This record gives sequence, C-alpha cells and structure tokens, in this order.
Amino acid sequence: MRKRITTIVCAVCLAASAAVAAENAARPVITVDATGPRRTVSPEMYGIFFEEISHAGDGGLYAELVLNRDMEASTIPEGWRVEGDQVFTTMGWRTRKWFHDDLPGWSFVAEGGADGSMHIDANNPLNDRNPHSLRLVVAKTGTRCGVANSGYWGINVQAGEWYDATFYARTEGNKGVGLVFSLENAAGDKVCARATIPEIGRGEFGPPQPSAANGPSQWRKYTLGLHANASDPRCRLVIAPIEPATMWLDVVSLFPRKTFKDRSNGMRRDVAQMLLDMKPGFLRFPGGCVVEGVTLYNRIRWKDSIGDIAQRKGDFDLWGYYTTYGLGYHEYLQLAEDLGAEAMYVANCGMSCQARRPAEIADANQLRFYVQDTLDALEYAVGPATSEWGAKRAANGRAEPFKLKYVEIGNENRGPDYERHYKIFYDAIKAKYPKIITIADVRMADRPVEIVDDHFYVDPARFFNMANHYDNADRNGPKIYVGEYAVNRGVGTGSLLGALAETVFMLNMERNADVVVMCSYAPLFENVNQRNWPVNLILLDSSRCVGRSSYQAQKVFAMNRPDVVLQTLVQASEVQLKGVPASRGRGGPRPPAEAGPAQPARVQQLYALAGLDVKRSEVIVKVVNPTPAAVSGSVVLKGLFKLGGKAKVITLSHADVNAENTLDHPNVIVPVESEMAVAGAEFPATFAANSLTVLRLSAAAE
Ligand code: AHR
Repeated sequence: MRKRITTIVCAVCLAASAAVAAENAARPVITVDATGPRRTVSPEMYGIFFEEISHAGDGGLYAELVLNRDMEASTIPEGWRVEGDQVFTTMGWRTRKWFHDDLPGWSFVAEGGADGSMHIDANNPLNDRNPHSLRLVVAKTGTRCGVANSGYWGINVQAGEWYDATFYARTEGNKGVGLVFSLENAAGDKVCARATIPEIGRGEFGPPQPSAANGPSQWRKYTLGLHANASDPRCRLVIAPIEPATMWLDVVSLFPRKTFKDRSNGMRRDVAQMLLDMKPGFLRFPGGCVVEGVTLYNRIRWKDSIGDIAQRKGDFDLWGYYTTYGLGYHEYLQLAEDLGAEAMYVANCGMSCQARRPAEIADANQLRFYVQDTLDALEYAVGPATSEWGAKRAANGRAEPFKLKYVEIGNENRGPDYERHYKIFYDAIKAKYPKIITIADVRMADRPVEIVDDHFYVDPARFFNMANHYDNADRNGPKIYVGEYAVNRGVGTGSLLGALAETVFMLNMERNADVVVMCSYAPLFENVNQRNWPVNLILLDSSRCVGRSSYQAQKVFAMNRPDVVLQTLVQASEVQLKGVPASRGRGGPRPPAEAGPAQPARVQQLYALAGLDVKRSEVIVKVVNPTPAAVSGSVVLKGLFKLGGKAKVITLSHADVNAENTLDHPNVIVPVESEMAVAGAEFPATFAANSLTVLRLSAAAE
C-alpha cells in the first residue's frame, strides 16, 4: 500500500459539498453535521432477492428431501431436441443435457440374491402433469430389493426428529404389498429411521386417485412417518417391498416434520432463519433470468407452481437442472409474510431471456395472454376469495389475501420490444391495481416509471470507484431499486475484500436514500455441490448453512439502518491497494495483454456515513476501512446533543482481506461487539484493518 500525495477526498455529502483540500495526509476526520439536510431511509431499504439458481430452492431453502420426487427430471420440454449431450430449445438455444439417466436421483437396490429392475414408465401416469412414473419389478427379494433416492447430495437425518413421507403408488393387479422405508447412511450399515406401510396396492391404506380410473392398477396416495434414532447428514432413502411384486411410484416426497414456521410444503428451518436474521424489508421472487426462461414456455409458469404438489408441473431451470416448482408462487407469498417482508413479484413481460439468444418475443396477440397471466397472479395474491384466482388461493388454504406491494415488469429486459410491452403491462396493472407499485428494468424517457431496477456484478475496484455513484442521480426521475449487486470478480468464490467493496457502494446507496429506495444482494444461495454463479451470499449443503462475509455485512447494514441520513464529510487520504487491480471498467473490452499488469486500485483510507435512529435516539456512524492497516482518525459530531459517554462498536474485520467464512469454518468473519468511551462531540477512533465498523451512541438532534 502506498500513500498518494496528500489529498482529501470528499466522499460523503448530502448536498453537493465541495471537496476540501488538505495540506498533509493528516489523521482522517469524519464530520457529521446534524444541522445539514437529512434524507429519509426507507424501512424497506435492505431486502432479499430469491432465484432458483445453484439449487437455492430445490436442494436449498425448500425442505423437500427427495431428489426428482416427480420422476420428471429427464423430461424434455415439448419441441426441444437432444443431440449427444446437448439439448436444443425450440428457439435453437443450446444447453448441456442436465441429466445422465432417465431417473436422476434414483438407483436400483438388489442385495443378497435379489433380482428385479427399475425403469421410467410413461404408461398409465398419475396425471397428465406428471407423465412419468418409476416402475419397480421385484422378481426375487433376496435380502432386499427396491429403489433408493440420494436426496440432494444426501438426506440430512437427525436423531429424535420425525420425517413425513407421502407418495403415490399402484401395483400390478392391485396386489397388496408391504413396503419398507429406510433412511440409512450411504454405506447402508447404519439405519437412522425405518417404517413400514403394511400394504400398498389395495384400498385400506390409501384412497384411489380420482384420475386413476385405470382398472386393475389404481394409483393411491400413502403417507407415513419415520422417527429417527440416529443421525447422518448424508442418508439415502430406500424403499423396498417385502415380497415379489411389480409396482409404480410417483411424487415420492419426504419432509422434516419441523419446517420454518411449521408450514407444510415448507422451508428448511436453519436456512430460512438466516433470511429472518437479515431483517429483510422485502422479498423479490422468483428471479432473475428464470422469470424470462430460455423460451417463453420455459419462463416460470406460476400457475403450474401452485396447489397440490402432485399437480405441479416442473421444468428445466435455465441454470442447468430440473426444478419441481415445489417452492412455488403461494410459498413465496407465504415466505414473504413469514419473514415480515414486503412481497415483490417479478413477472414475465412476454419476452424470454435476451442474454440467451435468440430471445422469443410474444407478438401482439400472444401478449394479451402474458398480461392476463400477470393480472391473474396479482389476483391470486391480493384478490378476494370470491374472485377467480382468489378462490384458488383460498382452496390452497389461504382465504385472506396476501400482501403484494411491488411487481417488476420483466427482468433485465430492454430494447424497443420491452418498452412497448412495458407500457401495456403498466397500464393494465395500474388500471386494476393502482396501489401496487411497478418496477421497470430500464429508464425510459417517454414511459411512466415509478422505480427502475439497476444491476451491478463487478470487481472490487469498481465498487470502490462507485463511492459517489448515485450522488448526482436525477432527483426528478424514477426512484431506484438496486435489485442485484455483488462483487463477483477478482475475489475467488468470495472474500472479505468483496464484502468491503460492497459496503462502500452500500454507503453510497444509503447516502442517496431519497432516490435509492431499495437494494438486494444477488444471488442469495448456493448449494456448494452445484455452483452456477461465481459468488453467492449464503452457502449450504444438506445439513449446514453459512453466511459469507458479505452476508454479515448485509446484516450489519440492515440492523443499523438509520431512519434518516445525516450530512457526513470524510477527510481522508487516497491510497493504493496493493494486490487489488484497478477496475477494468464498466464491462467494456478488457485492455489488451500488452497493456501490461493493471495498476493497483485506489481507495480512500476511510469511507463513512452517519444517520439517526430516531426511536432509540442514537446516532449511527458506519465506517469502512478497506486498507490493510488500522486507521486512526477522529469523529466530529455537530448539532447533536445529549451525547452518551459510551458508544457501542460493531466491527466486522479480519487481518487477511482474502479470508472468508465457509461451511467448515463459519465464524472466521463475524461481527464483534465492544464499547468505546466517547469524550464529547469530538473523539478519536481507530478503525481496524480491512473493516466495517458501526458506532452507535445516544444522541439527540434538533
Ligand atoms: O443473479 C444471477 C442472474 O444475474 C440473474 O438471474 C439475472 O437477473 C442476472 O443476470
């Protein structure tokens, strides 16, 4: 790190206050002026953005334990074709084939002289939305013959807990057969839970399904509970008949009895708790690119994601795997409510993903369908139970409307088609739901835009450079929602350096809270067994989850969100950050190799912003020191009275800026609380190397 000639960088000012020149690289000074203009910070400022990517839902937040429960993971959407290991969509876009066999997740089990087979079967399906089932033939049981499901890289089973299985089955000739369910470790030498259904295939234990007027082999639904007496995070589920039989299985589901808020078809408790701990102001769902799809059919079809899980019709998720739609529209609305967050629905605007060319654009006729589809979604959420879609919500167990505050028209869509579609959607939504706030993907001079959604995936230097990004944002234009942002380059799979750069950008968003009204980091989750995006906020596997340092920073910001921002001036030197290259710019062409190694990034020694927690009568000062050395400076508080003698100090830091939290080492970078004596309106403070620090002290302002 090298100090530059002594300059002072004015980074924090509510009104455009001029940079103040300094003669020496004196101790940095943070001046908070409560007499200056203030800006209100929305209670919804810090929210979360959920998308099914990297198994965020299936195999992540969604508590389902069986992989490919509906036997549809190898179903190719109509009109798509397979060539070798490639799949081509109807639009000609190509993706890697996402399955290696017909029944991903399932394997045949034959032990001790058993004989039989397992196949996918399209005959006599459970219903037309689930066209395939698993056919199991047991010719000789040996010591055991059946099928096993791997779960999502293992099924987490914990001693003392209950697990609830539901499944559909039919047997050849409606023969009655006993079925044993076991949750056991991968080697099969430790059984954590076992339960038997005395007889499937005949009437007593499962009513026939209405769709199955299919003579000698009727589908019936069964349920059973398994109580675990041992633990293993990587169990498999084995299902084995006790005598020779031919049977079909479908929608085989297993949930831990304890889910978040005890919801059925619910969320993993530990994972959802991490969201709750973020105190999110809103929940944006269901994407992301998945809203758009690689074709219009492939968009998230919310109507296929509600109701009985046996009636849902999953699809290929454009991030490279099959998704069941088990975590569907109703569950998102419920989750938002359970998190105490405002719901923000992102609707397809009649355009597939423009990043996956060629995009499919609805023509004028088709567009009516997509507009109506969105209006129906809004009616499902907020319409009375007497309305068409409100009645479906009520039938799904929720008579009272949900709250839905925001709807985003499209995701990352743009261009003339978008602008045309946007206006049609906007008018239709506002005509029927004038109170729902709309969000646009881009700024449009000749369209009514309430809020615009900005996205940034950048290297660390870029966010340091953006410390003043929104200072000159148009105060007469639309409000801004930064719907996706993260440092996801130059930090491996994430590091404290990335988190610190994000916090510098976050200070800027908060400082401009009169125009930047909401923001959400992205993406939210990564199952560490399938990473689809380079850097993600929360890492998980079958039994564990951990917040990266960026997660901790998000939490610190949300817990220390002021009601109003105060004018804050930082006088600090600019330094070079050795080992951190200067930004490559705004996604433009990379400099040629002959341009030589990039210069080190330049940062201020300190960045800061202060605000007031009105209810608690506290001033909150957030300070980022991105440099590898502790920085001692002073804090000056103007126009604040009744200052407490002590400040609460919250510090997020690590000596190594490349350090990170992992599943194995989850607490490397976590906020640490301490206290600091405060002598008066001006006091010295030292900010640790590579740190985000929050000072909270009681104070009153005029
Ligand atoms: O967050 C990952 C992806 O980034 C989102 O799906 C998309 O909106 C953006 O391009």
